[in-house]
Amino acid sequence: MAGALTGQVVVVFGGSSGIGLAAAKAAEAEGASVAIIGRDVDRLRAASATIAGSDWRSTDVTDAAGVARAVAHLGAIDHVFLSVGQGGASDVLKSAAEDLRRPFEERVFGTFNVVRSVAPKMREGSITLMSGLYASRTRRHASAQTAALCAVESLARTLALDLAPVRVNAVAPGWIDTPRLDRSFGPDKAGRVDAIARELPGKRIGHTDEVASAVILLMTNRYINGEVLHIDGGGRFV
Ligand SMILES: NC(=O)c1ccc[n+]([C@@H]2O[C@H](COP(=O)([O-])OP(=O)(O)OC[C@H]3O[C@@H](n4cnc5c(N)ncnc54)[C@H](OP(=O)(O)O)[C@@H]3O)[C@@H](O)[C@H]2O)c1
Repeated sequence: MAGALTGQVVVVFGGSSGIGLAAAKAAEAEGASVAIIGRDVDRLRAASATIAGSDWRSTDVTDAAGVARAVAHLGAIDHVFLSVGQGGASDVLKSAAEDLRRPFEERVFGTFNVVRSVAPKMREGSITLMSGLYASRTRRHASAQTAALCAVESLARTLALDLAPVRVNAVAPGWIDTPRLDRSFGPDKAGRVDAIARELPGKRIGHTDEVASAVILLMTNRYINGEVLHIDGGGRFV
């Protein structure tokens, strides 16, 4: 049976791990030809081996020329998902300037680099950007991250006009179990996740598949445009 993305080309930046990898697999399951992009070659090679027919290229999204090279081999592109960007807090009074700049380099200028490289290859279809819970829920010592996430949500709206008829949306996940949480929490992960889950309405954090299915919805529903879709179990309200 034909899937919802049969015959379409989907490019996932950050497709070698976590949410991006789950979305890449979901797109392939819907019949798409998938290309994944990230920095680490070994991780890309291993992830690509789990996605039938996929290919991969290595670049950092902050490198405009590298992003252009990473998509140069592709013909027409139908859908793009950006699942890239480090988390972490920073204190505007104490952090190094580069730590305050990094969220903007990755999330805002990274988006510009990707959009400028892929748009000439897109006639319609969609681009899905990555926001997050903390665009909606204020916390201490996260000014740079929060401002960059809010900028991404703004870009979903403004780029929806500039790139039309290509649609542009964003997903805003809450806490999702990915390798990134393994890295952030280390051996304390189980306890930290339990503590977070206790505060959430559904008493659990999310799965990558739950974000991936939202990304597929944004790719396939041709009337959703300029939207920010929250996949956080209601976490932004607590
Ligand atoms: N997990 C959560 O709870 C959560 C919640 C809300 C939002 N998010 C957002 O979702 C996105 C993905 O997070 P995740 O948890 O899935 O993380 P992850 O498992 O660490 O995956 C991140 C992916 O992005 C790639 N990547 C990272 N920096 C990159 C760069 N500068 N250029 C190109 N590729 C890069 C990574 O590969 P390389 O490292 O090899 O480049 C990897 O493929 C992030 O923007 C994160 O802020 C996550």
